[in-house]
Amino acid sequence: MAQKDNEVREGLEGVVAFESTISHIDGTVPELVVRGYDINDIVGNLTFEQMSYLLLFGELPSSNQLTDFDAELKSLRQVPKSVLAFLSSVPKSSEPMSVLRTAVSMLGCIDSESGLNDQNSVLIKLKSLIAKIPTIVAAQARINVGETPLQPDLSLSHSSNYYYMVTGEVADEKTLNAFDAVLVIYAEHEINASTFACRVVMGTESDIYSSVVAGISAIKGPLHGGAIDGSMNMLKEIGSAENAENYVKDALAQKRKLPGFGHRVYRAGDPRAHVLKRMTLDLANSRNDSHWFDIALEAEKQMASLKSIIPNVDYYAAPLLSHIGFPVILMTNVVTSARIAGWSAHILEQYGKNRLIRPRAKYTGKSGLKIHKP
Ligand SMILES: CC(C)(COP(=O)(O)OP(=O)(O)OC[C@H]1O[C@@H](n2cnc3c(N)ncnc32)[C@H](O)[C@@H]1OP(=O)(O)O)[C@@H](O)C(=O)NCCC(=O)NCCS
Repeated sequence: MAQKDNEVREGLEGVVAFESTISHIDGTVPELVVRGYDINDIVGNLTFEQMSYLLLFGELPSSNQLTDFDAELKSLRQVPKSVLAFLSSVPKSSEPMSVLRTAVSMLGCIDSESGLNDQNSVLIKLKSLIAKIPTIVAAQARINVGETPLQPDLSLSHSSNYYYMVTGEVADEKTLNAFDAVLVIYAEHEINASTFACRVVMGTESDIYSSVVAGISAIKGPLHGGAIDGSMNMLKEIGSAENAENYVKDALAQKRKLPGFGHRVYRAGDPRAHVLKRMTLDLANSRNDSHWFDIALEAEKQMASLKSIIPNVDYYAAPLLSHIGFPVILMTNVVTSARIAGWSAHILEQYGKNRLIRPRAKYTGKSGLKIHKP
């Protein structure tokens, strides 16, 4: 539908802002296609390293390319000591996403070439952030529980090392597959609010770190990536499957938005939620612990019958991450450490054919006023 001159689309709903070859969402099917591959085909077939390569370079890596890419990411995992010192110095009460935002900003201050925006420098900085954000998140997690941050283990894959640095344990195969799949599922999602924020900042020819800090600032909000923490807290508040009906009824009566439900584009179902629901059930069954799944399923049924609102990606990702040992306060950080791959692709795309992003406002304020000097 063409937009008429001066027509306001609240929340930019339905506005097509860019041409992009990165991903496509069709809310009616519903489907998510990344670089030509359906998300259902991607999950379980691509590792996070392969997904990141696909996003950065537009096609899947050959086995040699993957070996080189993997080695490069490994070589970039370590974060500067001053960043670790910063993580140790912040009050434990700080929001983990605010800490991550500041740590990434700090990486930009430490990088003496942060302002270099040629294609090669941009790519190196993005790979560095894909590799380093998990190290920051894991260090934060350990410092918060009074433990010393662990050195990255270069013998482990991206997800395996990430899990190890957070928990101090090497994940079993099932746990690792689930964690890697979560990172893959969250890696990219078209022009969502945080990706748009990254592109807006890149569009001013600012630096990569500033662009990613904008993305982090946007994704932490409870209407965006922050909804994963909200979802888990809500499942805890509901407490049991028997309570789900009353909880949902009360929330809707109070016109509260339930975290993990609803989506601007997917009105008929979020394909990522379908995959995550299956995976969460599978984990619950294999661990003989369906507590969170049962609550989530019942609340989903109540939402469907009372308001016809679908669960989104965060709804089942929250209990899944909980099953594999991630505390609630870390969940949005995990989402961010995956989405950096998609942001990177969009930053490169914006950089490659940049035009300053500058929408207009329809003025509805006063006019014709005169200043009267006393
Ligand atoms: C994602 C979200 C911001 C999309 O918002 P939006 O496109 O502006 O959707 P709308 O506000 O137009 O919603 C349409 C209707 O559904 C209702 N609705 C949407 N999401 C809801 C939710 N999570 N809980 C309860 N009602 C919800 C709205 O109140 C509105 O109802 P109404 O027509 O009776 O007024 C919204 O669904 C939301 O806040 N969800 C919770 C946060 C979340 O999970 N975010 C992660 C998204 S991946």
